[in-house]
Amino acid sequence: MNELRKDPRFAGIGPFEKKIWLSSPTMHGDELSWITDAIRKNWVTTIGENIDAIEQEVCALTGVKYAVALASGTSSLHLAVKLAAEKLYGRARPDKGTLEGQKVFASDMTFDASINPIAYEDGEAVFIDTEPGTWNMCPDALRRAFGQYPGVRLVVMAHVYGTPARMQEIKDICAEHDALIVEDAAESLGAECLLGGKWIQTGAAGDFGCISFNGNKIITGSSGGMFLTDSKEDADKVRKWSTQSREAASWYQHEEVGYNYRMSNLIAGTVRGQLPYLKEHIAQKKAIWERYEKGFDELPVKMNPWDREKSRPNFWLSCMTINEEAMAPSVRGERDCLYRSESGKSSPDEILDALRAFNAEGRPIWKPMHLQPIYRMNAFVTARGSGRGQTNAYIEGETFDVGADIFRRGLCLPSDNKMTPQEQDKIIEIIKRCFS
Ligand SMILES: Cc1ncc(COP(=O)(O)O)c(C=O)c1O
Repeated sequence: MNELRKDPRFAGIGPFEKKIWLSSPTMHGDELSWITDAIRKNWVTTIGENIDAIEQEVCALTGVKYAVALASGTSSLHLAVKLAAEKLYGRARPDKGTLEGQKVFASDMTFDASINPIAYEDGEAVFIDTEPGTWNMCPDALRRAFGQYPGVRLVVMAHVYGTPARMQEIKDICAEHDALIVEDAAESLGAECLLGGKWIQTGAAGDFGCISFNGNKIITGSSGGMFLTDSKEDADKVRKWSTQSREAASWYQHEEVGYNYRMSNLIAGTVRGQLPYLKEHIAQKKAIWERYEKGFDELPVKMNPWDREKSRPNFWLSCMTINEEAMAPSVRGERDCLYRSESGKSSPDEILDALRAFNAEGRPIWKPMHLQPIYRMNAFVTARGSGRGQTNAYIEGETFDVGADIFRRGLCLPSDNKMTPQEQDKIIEIIKRCFS
């Protein structure tokens, strides 16, 4: 791959001395004081002032009434899905999942952590295709899915790359079908969507919200997540489940399955030091997105889109797709890929290899869940109906699969907020040369 550096197309460009990351943690110093404070006071487990403070701060930031700090975004999604399922289908035996025998509609082009909690609870995800305007769950496909599976009552949807989904439409459709929404805002802290004429933070727009403080997120605790709700009863239930489900007895008494999912007060110290910088991080990420858009002005590519009237993204990752006519031949197997260079064209894998060769990190787009081996047999619904078995050996036609198309033509660009404009210009130049 470093061979690419010798390719005459890249003549005159040297590698970055310091690696340019996709999105690395940006520490400000206050994190250490809050961690030190916790250590000094000997509050280093899952109780403490840092936890209390960040729960309050996240409530103030997102507008929800209750926030429960957890070990990860994944644990928050798990408990949100379990809570929603208990409300819909009742409590399961301890050795069974609450979604046994139930289908759940789920975002398709997302990280598998959005989806796996459905499987943890023995449910079956039905994947809903992506729409080109926000790269999130397609409302038309969701409407189709309710037509196909009218009994479904739970929807798990994500706002990928920090871009809000078409939330108003998704909420309206779910209301028509009396379905609950688990909102995966792991990547979109600080992003907003217009709902009923008001700007609402992602994570506060569904019935249960989930955020993540994973190492590459816009605000990080090194790890961590939160469950968001307006219901005290739900917050109390999630807090109880996350701390091994102890009943109010002086010994260890259990009536429900428990989890060790609560956040530590040390992690909370890191989050506490980070939260005041959210606006600053969003502004930096937005500037990066805009610089790419301008820099790619004359290239046959497009930046990841958003609904400019009804949403304000946090621009966590800048992404792009290559226009179809400029796609060089490329194929992807289960683990490997092959591509050819052609004048005036390129492919995501060639660009990712070129970035790597010059010591910069990009990433493929989330591979849609319906294409993942683990979920290969799950149903998939597009805006045109079932997304499975769309071709016919005897009748000409084309497949319709928006997520697969974005995955094939797209990539995530280096989006680190510590990247300087000069460094970003060099990234842009490397990508330009891929098309030369
Ligand atoms: C869309 C999405 N959902 C869920 C998660 C899971 O969050 P965590 O890594 O905090 O468990 C992530 C990120 O890691 C994510 O990007």
